[in-house]
Amino acid sequence: MRRRVDETAASKRTEGKSVKRETGEVQTKTKSSWWVWVKRGLIALCTLYVATPFILQFFPSVIQYLVYKHAVTYFVDLRRPCDLGLNHTVNMYLTSEAGVTLGVWHTVPEQKWKEAQGKSLAWYEQSLGDGSPVFIYLHGNTGNRAAPHRLGVANVLSALGYHVVVMDYRGFGDSTGKPTKGGLITDALHLYHWVRAHSKDSLVIIWGHSLGTVVATNIAVKLQEQGNPVDAVILEGAFTNIKCQKDSPNPSPGITGDFHTYSTTFPRTQLKQISIYCSMVKTANEDILFYSSLKKMTTPLMILHSKDDHMVPFRMAEELYNTAKSVLKSEDKVRLVAFDGSHGYLHNGLYRDPSLPNYIREFVQSVAK
Ligand SMILES: *[C@@H]1O[C@H](CO)[C@@H](O)[C@H](O)[C@H]1NC(C)=O
Repeated sequence: MRRRVDETAASKRTEGKSVKRETGEVQTKTKSSWWVWVKRGLIALCTLYVATPFILQFFPSVIQYLVYKHAVTYFVDLRRPCDLGLNHTVNMYLTSEAGVTLGVWHTVPEQKWKEAQGKSLAWYEQSLGDGSPVFIYLHGNTGNRAAPHRLGVANVLSALGYHVVVMDYRGFGDSTGKPTKGGLITDALHLYHWVRAHSKDSLVIIWGHSLGTVVATNIAVKLQEQGNPVDAVILEGAFTNIKCQKDSPNPSPGITGDFHTYSTTFPRTQLKQISIYCSMVKTANEDILFYSSLKKMTTPLMILHSKDDHMVPFRMAEELYNTAKSVLKSEDKVRLVAFDGSHGYLHNGLYRDPSLPNYIREFVQSVAK
């Protein structure tokens, strides 16, 4: 009896030991597999780092993606702008050319929000001719019409009593096709003509942001040449020039013209970003220079720019302003609104400024006269 008890106790002890040993083994296993993953991750990163230039060279669509970043989505249903607080907005589609369908939102003036509930596309279309100014918002690269700063601008304009029409260019958001500079301009012109066809005698103003300022200026000049000028243009976060020297093998001195003069004042990292951007633009064979268009534009113009803009230096806004003044030969038709850097608006955040509505209202009134 006693022996048996001892035996059981002994076997329990050995059991305990073997359990301990097993746990020890499990621990070493976990540690080693963790280390293997870290190593794999590092190898993957190194490979990516080395392979990137080759990928860029051999896959133009990757470059196209990096220039426009059009496929960045915000995981929202673009057919339901009401989910994003735009309860007086209709989602619709326009065909700018064969095979290119553009997703568009039309937001009516805020005072109409109750009336707008459950209304059809036809009601929205008809409302465009109610006499309130109509803004066409041409967004920058990256993402789609649901990006928070784009919603922000739409809310400001709607609250002021204006219509806002926001489009995703081809390849952006739920629009079909692939983005190219020519394509973006075709799409914007198509939208403009659609708006003009429904807005009767209302003011039509184009608001371009970032890359959208290139599109805005280009179409304003085209419309002017066709004898059907747009009533006014607002440029937010506009740049003077991203021009890439064709013969330069090195992307860094590839920045010419206006950028060149900034190279001494630019922080190094920013300059590097631009030169990478520039080399991509060059490779993608996209000339996104628009300064030459601005030199022809005679449309009343308001330039909005934050002094802390981290993408486009404020000096460029001043340069645009001076150029526009000399083209328009008038101080009244062009204005520059600078936002203090202390607000932290950077490149996208101007819509948050409490005095922005006043600047816009005054500008619209000056154009309406
Ligand atoms: C609809 O939008 C308007 C304007 O933004 C807002 O004032 C109103 O409270 C919203 N109504 C509902 C039910 O969400």
